[in-house]
Amino acid sequence: MGASVIDRYGVMGYPVSHSRSPVIHRLFALQTGQNLLYELLQVTPDNLAKALQQFRRTGGKGLNITVPHKGEIARLVDRLSERASAAGAVNTVVFSDDEVFGENTDGVGLLRDLTANLGLNLQNAKILILGAGGATRGIVAPLLEARPASLVIANRTLSRASALVSRFAAFGTVTACRFDDARTLSAFDLVINATSAGLKGENPPYPEGAIAEHTICYDLSYGLTPTPFSSWAADQNAARSVMGWGMLVEQAAESFYIWRGVRPDTAAVLKQLAINA
Ligand code: ATR
Repeated sequence: MGASVIDRYGVMGYPVSHSRSPVIHRLFALQTGQNLLYELLQVTPDNLAKALQQFRRTGGKGLNITVPHKGEIARLVDRLSERASAAGAVNTVVFSDDEVFGENTDGVGLLRDLTANLGLNLQNAKILILGAGGATRGIVAPLLEARPASLVIANRTLSRASALVSRFAAFGTVTACRFDDARTLSAFDLVINATSAGLKGENPPYPEGAIAEHTICYDLSYGLTPTPFSSWAADQNAARSVMGWGMLVEQAAESFYIWRGVRPDTAAVLKQLAINA
């Protein structure tokens, strides 16, 4: 009998030192009594394929993938889930004896935060997404599957929003407009910021007309202090202004469940992260 080896997991990104995934997964493991290792793996883009193979060879069971590798890893795995294929991005890798499988749990994570944690009913809701980059690609299909009344993607560069409308047409009705045009639209039930403007310290003119007193605003970004979008939304007297901590923990829980077959209690971990989600 061989010596028992502890199952290895990790997050690959560049840079990756800021990632909260190790803390979250260690809390999940502790809570569910799972014996595993979860490492921070800093991997440059030109080293990604090699690092993936090496992690597998040395007993790796699963990976989370973060910026900037989510798109590239989708081309390196043997098989993609339907969700990962629609998003063109992978945030979860599963190694088995015969294949490397790519999944994307970002969309499920957002949906679970919106519905289970925040209690929103998305069916028949009017939803606006700001931004049309990689973050948006991961959430459009799951949002459409919730059967909203309408889903609008507003982007600074109209052509990128239009490209997403074509890409996701099979999942439901979605329309595109310019970032500036969103200002003349009437109010939405839910406004999701999926731009990277705040991360870069930029502050575009967010569309105030999209906000009424019943509107929930959700920023996919998160921080220990309010993001520029969440401050702006609070200033517009939105019903709620929420940062993406819940999505972060929920997407991690879904990855953990795929790897270990056990669903952690996310509320407890959100609290342990000492954030007020
Ligand atoms: P990510 O993977 O984080 O979505 P991305 O693919 O580079 O990153 O997309 C960034 C998104 O943020 C895009 O929708 C971008 O708008 P453009 O397509 O017009 O570039 C949006 N974005 C970034 N900075 C912005 C700013 N200052 N104002 C408005 N939109 C911005």
